[in-house]
Amino acid sequence: MEATDIGDDLETVLITEEQISERLSEMAAQIDRDYVGKEILLVGVLRGAVMVMADLSRKIHSPLEMDWMAVSSYGAGTKSSGVVRILKDLDSDIQGRHVLIVEDIIDSGLTLSWLYANLTQRGAASVKIATLLRKPDAAKVHVDVSYVGFDIPNEFVVGYGLDYAGRYRHLSSVGTLAPHVYGG
Ligand code: PRP
Repeated sequence: MEATDIGDDLETVLITEEQISERLSEMAAQIDRDYVGKEILLVGVLRGAVMVMADLSRKIHSPLEMDWMAVSSYGAGTKSSGVVRILKDLDSDIQGRHVLIVEDIIDSGLTLSWLYANLTQRGAASVKIATLLRKPDAAKVHVDVSYVGFDIPNEFVVGYGLDYAGRYRHLSSVGTLAPHVYGG
């Protein structure tokens, strides 16, 4: 889906498809440099990270495997508690593995903070984080992120895996929605 397919429901395109692709190439090159001689286990966090995982992984030259997790906060309003429930766990044993978590966005940081601690406790040789987007102004906890695509303002964004009410994940770019979309 292109920005033009959304019409006036889209307010602005923040990051174009080309900018995403270029930045992912740079991140992949850095990952290749950092993991020389090591096999990476990419862990994608469903569902938003699907696009980043697909595109970033194909730009990495080093050997790697992929696994997936799905996590959710406990009901409405509890995301701020930082308590996360595992909906789908990894299929792999990560003991001794070099784990690289792949995310679409770090907002408050609570999900990734919890996930980082959880995977580290399983005995991984290393755990690092790659995210396409990060909102520095929304951070509630510090998360040590090794690879960041773009720092963006604290606005609600959709596209490239990110949804509003389940929609717009397949938009090729990242953009903000017009207020009338929220207002109904
Ligand atoms: C998004 C994103 C992260 C999390 C970041 O997932 O993919 O997992 O929110 O937010 P935080 O930094 O405030 O914890 P979401 O819960 O929207 O699920 P989805 O990926 O299935 O859309």
